[in-house]
Amino acid sequence: MQNMVKKAVIPAAGIGTRMLPGTKAQPKEMLVIVDKPVIQYVIEEAVQSGITDILIIISEGKEVLREHFSKDQVLEDLLKRKGKTAELEEIIKLTSLCNIQFEYQHEQKGLGDAILCAEKFVGNDPFAVLLGDTIIESPQPLTGLLALDYEKTKSPVVALQQVDLSIAHRYGVFVGEKIGERFYKATQLVEKPLKDNIPSNLVFSGRYVFTPDIFGHLRKTAPGVNDEIQLTDAMRSLMTERDLYGHLFDGVRHDVGNKLDFIKTNITLGLKREDIGKELGDWIRTLS
Ligand code: UTP
Repeated sequence: MQNMVKKAVIPAAGIGTRMLPGTKAQPKEMLVIVDKPVIQYVIEEAVQSGITDILIIISEGKEVLREHFSKDQVLEDLLKRKGKTAELEEIIKLTSLCNIQFEYQHEQKGLGDAILCAEKFVGNDPFAVLLGDTIIESPQPLTGLLALDYEKTKSPVVALQQVDLSIAHRYGVFVGEKIGERFYKATQLVEKPLKDNIPSNLVFSGRYVFTPDIFGHLRKTAPGVNDEIQLTDAMRSLMTERDLYGHLFDGVRHDVGNKLDFIKTNITLGLKREDIGKELGDWIRTLS
């Protein structure tokens, strides 16, 4: 995909408490789905969407994320010697996906604070945000679709999914006016609303396109829900100055940062694989 949005920020500095003890020494963004870490799926979506420059926000102890995308000559030589050509190609491809840089978030003060760490990298350009623990399955790369929306509106746009009202309190909730088939203009945004006061079943899905003016709003955002600097609060502040849109995407979101979705994602994507899908399906049918 060709578009004007060339930069992406991937926050991956969180503590991952919902997957402890699995994420004590292993970043949740490095958890393997079939045979690839979550973050690799995220970066592949970005690249397919036309992104050329990525900044991954990490925290101390998560350097393995950097290692995954660095050249490993010893491994390459070993695979060459063993004649493992397909594996070698995969490893070489990893280091040439696009330009990937890293920045530290020293204290885990929330998603909004993590994005604030990307201010210098972003400069004056529009940019995408892709959550590092979220895989999106959709007919077209979702970030690319948001970038096309940005080109039409020159406004920030967030990906939305529809969920059952009974679970909407776990998410950032979007309230808006429908202005196109899958397109909404935001009227209100609420981070993790109270269970008995859910204003809409449209929720954020871990993909966004922003303009650099979000940083001014992030800087003045006080800690909110869970005592974290919430991206949703900064977006609500941004809405006092400009329009913000929502794109209800066609596809599935996999939040790999919780146990149930982690297992479901492995099965869902495993079933779609040519090498193991059939056998996995046969085995699942034997369970009852
Ligand atoms: P989550 O909201 O899932 O937070 O982050 P978390 O702290 O990692 O996980 P739990 O809730 O404790 O289990 C969504 C994305 O934002 C990043 C995470 O790494 C994840 O990819 N994040 C979150 C940051 O980069 N910094 C933060 O301070 C919080």
